[in-house]
Amino acid sequence: MTGTFRQEKISKIKVGVLGSTGIVGQQFVRMLNGHPWFETAALAASPAAAGRRYGDAVDWMLSGGCPSPAGRILLCRPTGSDLRRSGVHVVFSALPASVAGEMEEDLSGSGFRVFTNAGAFRMHPGVPVVIPEVNPDHLGLISGRESGEGFIVANANCSTTGLVLALKPLEGFGIRSLQVATFQALSGAGRSGLPALRAFDNVIPLIPGEEEKMSRETNRILGRREGGSITPADIEITATCCRVPVRDGHLEAVTAELEGDVDLSRIKRAFHDYKALPQRLRLPSAPRRPLIIRGESDRPQPALDRLAGTPRSARGMAVSIGRLSLRGRRLRFVLLVHNTIRGAAGTSLLNAEMAAARGLLDEGPSEGFRKEEPCGS
Ligand SMILES: NC(=O)c1ccc[n+]([C@@H]2O[C@H](COP(=O)([O-])OP(=O)(O)OC[C@H]3O[C@@H](n4cnc5c(N)ncnc54)[C@H](OP(=O)(O)O)[C@@H]3O)[C@@H](O)[C@H]2O)c1
Repeated sequence: MTGTFRQEKISKIKVGVLGSTGIVGQQFVRMLNGHPWFETAALAASPAAAGRRYGDAVDWMLSGGCPSPAGRILLCRPTGSDLRRSGVHVVFSALPASVAGEMEEDLSGSGFRVFTNAGAFRMHPGVPVVIPEVNPDHLGLISGRESGEGFIVANANCSTTGLVLALKPLEGFGIRSLQVATFQALSGAGRSGLPALRAFDNVIPLIPGEEEKMSRETNRILGRREGGSITPADIEITATCCRVPVRDGHLEAVTAELEGDVDLSRIKRAFHDYKALPQRLRLPSAPRRPLIIRGESDRPQPALDRLAGTPRSARGMAVSIGRLSLRGRRLRFVLLVHNTIRGAAGTSLLNAEMAAARGLLDEGPSEGFRKEEPCGS
């Protein structure tokens, strides 16, 4: 996707958050507070919570406290009629996998634009799984819709998001195969996480379904869009995923077998210089540099590096890369991704910003942008 785009803010686009009291939902609420394009107009949690003030219902877990404008919102039911009543036609979903499929399908079927973190539709042929710096062209799967028609745009599983961001600049070198071992934070298991007694002093060498997702989703995201479908890439990926007693931030140890001869300085430059459409469009949640190389021998570390990314609105949106080494064609490195920001709410928000910049959120009851010069496709 190339081209320039200029937009003129008329009024903010009203958005809703489903699953807003959960770990990912809270990141949405935090990142949407003061957002230049979007205004939080509806928050929903489980149906039983409807009618309660968000600030009273939520067990806020992020630093800085619950933003007071959101705290005053009365929770609605996660239904089209309640969301519509709040003037919302764009919805961020942080719903549990068990309920996301049906609810998101109903909402998109009745005209809502749904940006989801749940896994229900990540392999659906009509639903793009988009990381804006990696495969913005996949958004083309939904751009041919009739005006007023709803859609679902998914983002990837949290560990996959960090991985594909690091792999994208390597594509030019040819990636033959990949081995990755992950060390994933407790918040990746949701608000209830793991019981403390199981997590403390422990490493759990299984995260059900995660290893398969990393392989499937990585190949789909790095795949080629041909008209209305995606032909997946064909990288052999072996993943081993472990849960570790860290609060936030997934660390991944990657070994990539490259196709051609290359020297390490070219690889470092490819990582360091990597910028893509969100940076060119200066989307509000885009980090100036999506990848940050750490030169120290013992970085990145979750406690020190999980909030990488500038400007302030993009904290936690950059992936940190360290321990780079090359032996023959075998490249090794360690990466760190903030699982609930870049791995979840932040990428979903960036997807919505990119969709707004392309005019895909224009129609609806809360029209917010005048498109002046559309992006190419
Ligand atoms: N955690 C991560 O790092 C991460 C990363 C990427 C993707 N994801 C995905 O993001 C989604 C949310 O994950 P999470 O970690 O934020 O989960 P979570 O902390 O368990 O939060 C779940 C949220 O869903 C609401 N909810 C529960 N049952 C519901 C129902 N029947 N109808 C409507 N809302 C319901 C809860 O509301 P109540 O407070 O009322 O119970 C809560 O707001 C999941 O699909 C997950 O796979 C998570």
